[in-house]
Amino acid sequence: KKNKEYACSTDMAARRDCGFLGITDQQCRDRNCCWDSTENKLNAPFCFIQQHSCQGYQVKNAQETANGLNLDLELLGGCARFGKDIARLTVNVDFETESRVRVKITDKDSQRYEVPKEALPSTESTIRRVEKRGYEFKYAKSPFTFSIKRISDGEVLFDSAVAGMDSLVFEDEYLEISTVVPADANIYGLGEVVSAFRRDPGNTRQTMWARDAPTPVDQNLYGSHPFHLEMRKGAAHGVFLRNSNGMDVILTPKKVTYKAIGGILDFTVFVGPKPEEVINQYTEVIGRPHMPPAWALGWHQSRYGYKNIDAVEATVQRYKKEGLPLDGMWIDIDYMDRFYDFTYDEARFPQARMKALADNLASFNQSMILIIDPGIPIAPGYEPYDSGMRDDVFIKTLEGKPIEGRVWPGQTYFPDFLNTKETWAYWERQLKKTRDDIGANVYPWIDMNEPSNFCNGPCTKDGATASGLDSASEKQLFAKRDVAAAAAPTSFKYSINNAGRQAPLDEKTLATNAVHRNGMRLTDTHNLYGHMESAATHDALLNLDPNTRPFILTRSSFPGTGAFAAHWTGDNWSQWEHLKYSISGVLSFGLFGIPFTGADICGFNGNAQEELCLRWHQLGALYPFARNHNDIKGTDQEPYVWPNSVLPAAKKALQIRYSLLPYFYSLFEQAHKTGKPVWQPLFFQYPQDAQALKIDSQFLLGDGVLVSPSLAAGEVQVKAYFPGNGRWFDLWTHQVVMEAGASDRYAFLKANAQSDSIPMSLAGGHMVPIQKPGLTVAETRASPVSLIIALDESGVAKGEMFAHITFALTAGQNLVSNVTSAIQAEQLKAGLGGNHGDKVEKIVVMGLNFGKAASAEPKNVRVSKRAAPQQRGARHGGDAYKDIAHLSKGHVTVSN
Ligand code: NOJ
Repeated sequence: KKNKEYACSTDMAARRDCGFLGITDQQCRDRNCCWDSTENKLNAPFCFIQQHSCQGYQVKNAQETANGLNLDLELLGGCARFGKDIARLTVNVDFETESRVRVKITDKDSQRYEVPKEALPSTESTIRRVEKRGYEFKYAKSPFTFSIKRISDGEVLFDSAVAGMDSLVFEDEYLEISTVVPADANIYGLGEVVSAFRRDPGNTRQTMWARDAPTPVDQNLYGSHPFHLEMRKGAAHGVFLRNSNGMDVILTPKKVTYKAIGGILDFTVFVGPKPEEVINQYTEVIGRPHMPPAWALGWHQSRYGYKNIDAVEATVQRYKKEGLPLDGMWIDIDYMDRFYDFTYDEARFPQARMKALADNLASFNQSMILIIDPGIPIAPGYEPYDSGMRDDVFIKTLEGKPIEGRVWPGQTYFPDFLNTKETWAYWERQLKKTRDDIGANVYPWIDMNEPSNFCNGPCTKDGATASGLDSASEKQLFAKRDVAAAAAPTSFKYSINNAGRQAPLDEKTLATNAVHRNGMRLTDTHNLYGHMESAATHDALLNLDPNTRPFILTRSSFPGTGAFAAHWTGDNWSQWEHLKYSISGVLSFGLFGIPFTGADICGFNGNAQEELCLRWHQLGALYPFARNHNDIKGTDQEPYVWPNSVLPAAKKALQIRYSLLPYFYSLFEQAHKTGKPVWQPLFFQYPQDAQALKIDSQFLLGDGVLVSPSLAAGEVQVKAYFPGNGRWFDLWTHQVVMEAGASDRYAFLKANAQSDSIPMSLAGGHMVPIQKPGLTVAETRASPVSLIIALDESGVAKGEMFAHITFALTAGQNLVSNVTSAIQAEQLKAGLGGNHGDKVEKIVVMGLNFGKAASAEPKNVRVSKRAAPQQRGARHGGDAYKDIAHLSKGHVTVSN
């Protein structure tokens, strides 16, 4: 009787496939299965089973431990959905800290693959035993289900009972578990994907399978992040599934369902309840974001297809000539000899000229970034191949031969980055070559590390399966593979929704029936490849130069990658919708602990048009990672390509970025310490504001700066939403743009393409430090600091700034200056604390005249106990604005 509910279920996520590719209605019914061919985004099978007999597990034995619970489970009745059920399970519940609990479910009798410690090294050391826990763990005995409740408000954050008899399916190659969420749940995260920031709670199927694809919407991409944050009644919590296997995470009304094809079920739930607390708790487990070197927060120029070193030099010169800031000059695979890593094309990019350019850049405190792909060409006599073979560092087939793929240089082997000994040492020696050849100001950009493969899986020199590079032949090959994949040894009975069409797992990547030196199989570790390459590269750079913070850009990522590298959102398109998607991309990676993220400015694929490129520079100049990058097929898109439009607008946008460098730097330091994203969605600071939950066309830079970009052609006014109830000021003109308590929280902000920059507003109560923008970070750094302070309605503002932007590795040694100001009656005190060497040039205080009109304006200014002559500043809308020139250390006091 119980099984009745499954008869031709309308619950698409619960459908069990009963057919095969191309099955017809009649064939399906002949099998006594259900048929429903309505198109659906979940890719639920048209032909599916009517009933199944899952009965879940029963608790046989329960034991309290010092810090949790151990349960033994026994199968009640097999499901055999996609293979044999595991008969006995163990559940370890670990109360790791006051705000996070881990529930790990695995086979009791035999060891299964788990995400290795090497990939997530920091978890253990952050366990903090406490008496007072912010959550309550409960379980039901038969069938076994569990729930986690937040004590402060009684909210149930996880409850596996929602899936009825499917509440726990644990088979060798198929794991399934669900949790309940409210009907219109506010769920963010789960990636990597191009989509709206808030995931569709009724119809999302997020597949995790690292994949090189030109950023199709709603499909699995380069990185895998089984983490989401949910906002419920103004409070946030987070759920992380520590599993690197292929999986689908499916959102259907009232339910989040996980379907993984291997590994174990290993959840950590974070109780928040503030959104930034969830990310703090999450990054404590996976590793805090690294602190980038200061220069990397500057502007970057790249393209695939710079013809030769002259073209690169000319770009650097042109930037100078136009007065455009530049800190990183990038060179793509063009520089290599036949696309062999660690070589130079002596005709077009001679090593001597590369070195001369790097030296020249170094003399202006600029850096060079060179792409490195993981595939090592199979070429005896080529040192990276020879020493790689000698040291046995490549991933191997089950027969023990290095596994072959095909990338730019042709047939290649792939370093086994899970081998943290031999392979990491090998990689360090390779990376050292670049430093020795070109210079210490040269940094790696690691691409193609999904790993990408031009073949679909197996790929041998004789070429039977090697694809050509043109899309026609690739297509043909895909067609062939679809047939072959059915019989492939690594195919799974449950097909994750790879590429949105249940594509074979080895499509455009290495065949996964391969092994690491430590015995792990690539089927399990595929999603870790780019992450482990990032870790190896970071480790190598630190070994080569312990005094300099590494900079690395990676395409593929996994939870924890933010500790090692920056990320860009891959091969996007020169289209307006991709400009908008870049916001959700950066916001999502902020949740994933990789705040140092940006999208290719002006778009990678396609030709950038003038207005789009102008707007993209305005928005992109505020990306945490800001780089203009282009495809080899695309027309040029450097800002000066349009001298009368994009150039002046980009110049202004870049001056804004460089002005804000002390602010950016402070935000990165905070991210490094607490995980707090550099870009925040509006609800992070305004969790009670229901309107803010759906906004992804605006974002907060830090806590207080609201950015409202123009994202459409011809849009010269932006309809901006101002979250919360407080007042907001234009950051640059100091006008009030939203009054406190205003009932209509929308306002139109001017965004004239030619003259104005992107609308930026500062919330009352916040402070932003700025500097005079130079042409490099180093030059900017030498200029005095000014503070822009916006008082809230009660006359208070708070802010934090790092006094020293250091260029050497001094993580954790930075001096902090707390800048607070409080005004009581008619007195304003602004203090710069800390023993720093910064010169304060100017302090702008907005909102002084609260309720008191002009009489509240301070009448004299004292600095370091010395009275400084009062300087009347410009007045805007009744706000006082004071110029204080060239003050040195100490306090700045403005009093009545
Ligand atoms: C793919 C990367 O995503 C892109 O940024 C790069 O330009 C090309 N590979 C060529 O290296």
